[in-house]
Amino acid sequence: MQIVSNLVKVSIPNYLAGLPIPDSIGGWFRLGVRDWLALIPPTAVLGGISYVSYQTIKKARENGKVNPDIRKEIPKVVDFIDIEDITDKASLCRCWRSKNWPYCDGSHGNLNKETGDNVGPVVIRHKEKK
Ligand code: FES
Repeated sequence: MQIVSNLVKVSIPNYLAGLPIPDSIGGWFRLGVRDWLALIPPTAVLGGISYVSYQTIKKARENGKVNPDIRKEIPKVVDFIDIEDITDKASLCRCWRSKNWPYCDGSHGNLNKETGDNVGPVVIRHKEKK
């Protein structure tokens, strides 16, 4: 715990205090090459933290939503398929990841790998053609 305490209370503040951050906007234009190089690591860390935070918030906002991107511009996705148009069988997507919506294109396989879920399509077929 002493190491963490020292890192947070002494090392990081000392490191940040030593960065060549100018006091004015004009000061940024007077920075030398060494100054800019010294700013790369903390900028990369800040960018990384921002990116991870953004991704985390984005995922949290998507939590609870089933449909990630199919026809998001309309209030409700409803599809009609005439049974006469189904010649033998039709696989209808239930994972909401198909690029061939409302038909299954196998995208549920990747979703299942990512999430450990077990979703799949509903297959509609003609009874006499089983
Ligand atoms: S792609 Fe969605 S169930 Fe197959």
